[in-house]
Amino acid sequence: MAASRSHGLDSGDRLPYVRTSVPGPRARRAARRLEGAEAPGINTLVAGSTAMLWEAALGSNVLDIDGNRYLDLTAGFGVAAVGHRHPAVVSAVKRQADRLLHGLGDVFAHPYRLELSERLGRLAPLREPQVYFAASGADAVEIALKTGRLYSGRPGILAFTPAYHGTTLGALQGTSRPAFRSPFIEPLEHLVHRLPYGAAAEEVQQLLEQQPEIGTCLVEPVIGREATRWPPPGWLAALAAACREHKVVLAVDEIFTAFGRCGEWFVSAEAGIEPDLICCGKALGGGLPIAAVIGEKDVLAAWQTEGEARHTATFVAHPLACAAALATLDVIESEGLVQRAQEMGRRLGHRLEPLKQHPVIVDVRGKALLWGVELDTPKRAPGLCRQLLERGVIALSGGATGTVVQIAPPLVVTERQLDYAADSLVEAALGMCSDS
Ligand SMILES: Cc1ncc(COP(=O)(O)O)c(C=O)c1O
Repeated sequence: MAASRSHGLDSGDRLPYVRTSVPGPRARRAARRLEGAEAPGINTLVAGSTAMLWEAALGSNVLDIDGNRYLDLTAGFGVAAVGHRHPAVVSAVKRQADRLLHGLGDVFAHPYRLELSERLGRLAPLREPQVYFAASGADAVEIALKTGRLYSGRPGILAFTPAYHGTTLGALQGTSRPAFRSPFIEPLEHLVHRLPYGAAAEEVQQLLEQQPEIGTCLVEPVIGREATRWPPPGWLAALAAACREHKVVLAVDEIFTAFGRCGEWFVSAEAGIEPDLICCGKALGGGLPIAAVIGEKDVLAAWQTEGEARHTATFVAHPLACAAALATLDVIESEGLVQRAQEMGRRLGHRLEPLKQHPVIVDVRGKALLWGVELDTPKRAPGLCRQLLERGVIALSGGATGTVVQIAPPLVVTERQLDYAADSLVEAALGMCSDS
């Protein structure tokens, strides 16, 4: 922990401390270099956005290169569920680094990979689960879509709007936002049949009857990035029943929601559905890149081949990531983080109540440690995030409408940190009311 102490991060449970303007002078200089070195779009310098370079992180805190300490309400895109750099995850990675850094993908496995696939199988709400590892969330979605196509023999996909499933060419078929899709996906467009998220059961039934080429249904059990929105009660169960009736492979994308974020290991379990395939990733690796599809054995049997694996990647089931994932699952269990997310969510909801009185706030919704604050115009959401950042709180805005500020802190966030975050949001929103 010596290194993190020297970075002003002796524990991850601190309140923010902002000592420079944001961005600070070092961040501004680095941003100029970054602009020259990295392609636009991926170099984090969206026009008008705030350049901020993360140097270190621990628990729910992030330190930037100017020495400012923040409270991370994004959990690093939902990855740091057990907190940034959890000591158990770090030691597991270090131990594994001393043994085996890289394996041989789909040719020769390694022991942690075996352990992890068995463990994921035990956790998932499936009858006879097997695991297909992936290199990223979008890669897991690719695997799910390919599985659906192999198993059903039908190329069509039912997807919903809004939805985010990743930006690789296959995953883009499920993702709804035109800005992500339109330059790349048009040739495949005829395969995707889209309904509004939460569409009435009769509408789903009708579509599946009219479009018998649909072999796979891809759905988020809670819309994450694009809306932070829950489906109407019973909707997932009705969708699952319709898929079963029409022999459509149901692939549930739990990449954002699994492992406690929504107060359950898997939202599918709470919804009482047994999908054919569950995609997971993000929080699983505790900070290292790993994802997986957990699926019913008879469905995944569609991949049976005499030859080489038909979907694979050099770094699949990477030894460091598997070690980190096992340690992450241990931490979620031993620290009771699923239950904790529920309790902290109740606290947060209560603390955010005053927001509902603000004229610029359209809705405040959430559960466990996934919340969305919806503002009246897309202009205001980044403004609110900017104000939060000045108070040392990192939150992301956006979604399909551009109006939602998302709150998804590490599940280890402390009460004091959460209260600070909620109060900052309320104050910042109040400031916006008086500005407008
Ligand atoms: C629901 C969902 N699916 C898929 C993805 C894509 O995952 P990745 O960015 O690891 O490719 C994301 C990422 O935000 C997601 O939230």
